[in-house]
Amino acid sequence: MIKAGIIGGSGYTGGELIRILLNHPNAEIDFVYSTTRAGIPVTNAHPDLLGVTDIHFTGEVNLAVDVVFLCLGHGNSTKFLHENHFSSATRIIDLSNDFRLNKDAVFDGKEFVYGLPELQRNKITSARYIANPGCFATAIELALLPLAKAHLLHSQVHVNAVTGSTGAGVSPSATTHFSWRNGNVSWYKPFTHQHLGEINESLKSLQGNSGEILFLPMRGNFTRGILATAYTPFSGTVDEALHLYQDFYSDAEFTQMAKEPINLKQVVNTNQCHIHLHKHNDVLLVTSAIDNLLKGASGQAVQNMNLMFGFKEKEGLQLKAGVY
Ligand SMILES: NC(=O)c1ccc[n+]([C@@H]2O[C@H](COP(=O)([O-])OP(=O)(O)OC[C@H]3O[C@@H](n4cnc5c(N)ncnc54)[C@H](OP(=O)(O)O)[C@@H]3O)[C@@H](O)[C@H]2O)c1
Repeated sequence: MIKAGIIGGSGYTGGELIRILLNHPNAEIDFVYSTTRAGIPVTNAHPDLLGVTDIHFTGEVNLAVDVVFLCLGHGNSTKFLHENHFSSATRIIDLSNDFRLNKDAVFDGKEFVYGLPELQRNKITSARYIANPGCFATAIELALLPLAKAHLLHSQVHVNAVTGSTGAGVSPSATTHFSWRNGNVSWYKPFTHQHLGEINESLKSLQGNSGEILFLPMRGNFTRGILATAYTPFSGTVDEALHLYQDFYSDAEFTQMAKEPINLKQVVNTNQCHIHLHKHNDVLLVTSAIDNLLKGASGQAVQNMNLMFGFKEKEGLQLKAGVY
C-alpha cells in the first residue's frame, strides 16, 4: 500500500480523489489537508461519505508521504510547494495549470511531465512530478491528437465545448448560482480560454504546423461533464478517419471510439473519454465526452499515479456511469 496526501481536500477535485482513493486496492489516504477545516471530519464537506470514512481534515502535512495530490487553484500550487518541501521520494501530482506549459515545467529542480497517458504514457511511467491536464484540454486534445499524429490539422479547427458548473470549483459565483445557471446557457472567454496553451503544445508535439484552434467554451445547465465538438476539413472517408483513431487509441485503457453518436451521461461518473466521428461533405466532425472531475481531473490523476507506481492503469477507476 502506498500512502497518499491530498491538499485542498474540501474542494471538488479533492473530494473526488478521496472517493477514488478510499476504494483503491494499492493506496491509502494518509492525510487530507485543509486550510479552513482542520480537525473537522471530511464528511463535513463531503456528506456522501458518511458511514464510509471517519478521516478528519488536518492542518499538518506529512512531507514524506509517497504521493501528494495538489488540488488547489491556479498559482496556489507554486506557493504551496515554496512553503512545503516534500521528501525527494514523494511523487507530486498537481491538478492546477501551474506546471502544464513547457515554460513552467521545471520548478525548484523538479521536472513536471504533462500527464495525458494517451499522449505520453512511457514518460509518465518514469516521472516523479506530474502536471495533470485541464478538463477542457483533455476533451479537446483527445478529440484531435490522432489527426495531429497523421499531420492532418492544416487549417483552422473550430471547437465548441460545453461544461457543467463543477468545472468552476466549489466556491459559488454569479455564473454558478442556481438562479443564473438553471435553465440557462452562455459562452465565455471566446477564443482565449487558458487551456489553449496546453492544447496547442500537445498538438504541436505531434504536428509542428497544426493550424489554429478556434475554441468557444460554453457553460451548460448541468453539474458535471464536458461535451466537445471539433470540425475541420478532411479528404478521406469516415472509415479512414476511424481507422486512424482506432490505431492511435489501440492501447488506451480509457478512450473509446463510439460507432453511434454520443451523449454526456454515458461518461459522467466514469474515467472514460468517448469519441464519435461524422463526415459531412469535406468536413470531419469529432465529438468527445468526458467527466470533467474524473478523466478531466481526479480520475486522470489516479490513472497517472497508477502508471508512476507500476499499478494496473485501471486500478481503482472501474467506475459506473450515471446514465439515466
Ligand atoms: N473542477 C474541475 O472540473 C477541474 C478540472 C480540472 C482541473 N481543475 C483544477 O484543479 C484545481 C482544483 O479545482 P477544484 O475545482 O477542486 O477547486 P475548488 O473546488 O475551488 O477547491 C480548491 C480547494 O483548495 C483549498 N485552498 C484554497 N486556497 C488555498 C491555499 N492558498 N492553500 C491551500 N489550500 C487552498 C480550499 O480548500 P480548504 O479551504 O479546505 O483549504 C478549496 O476548497 C484547480 O486548479 C482547477 O483549475 C479543476
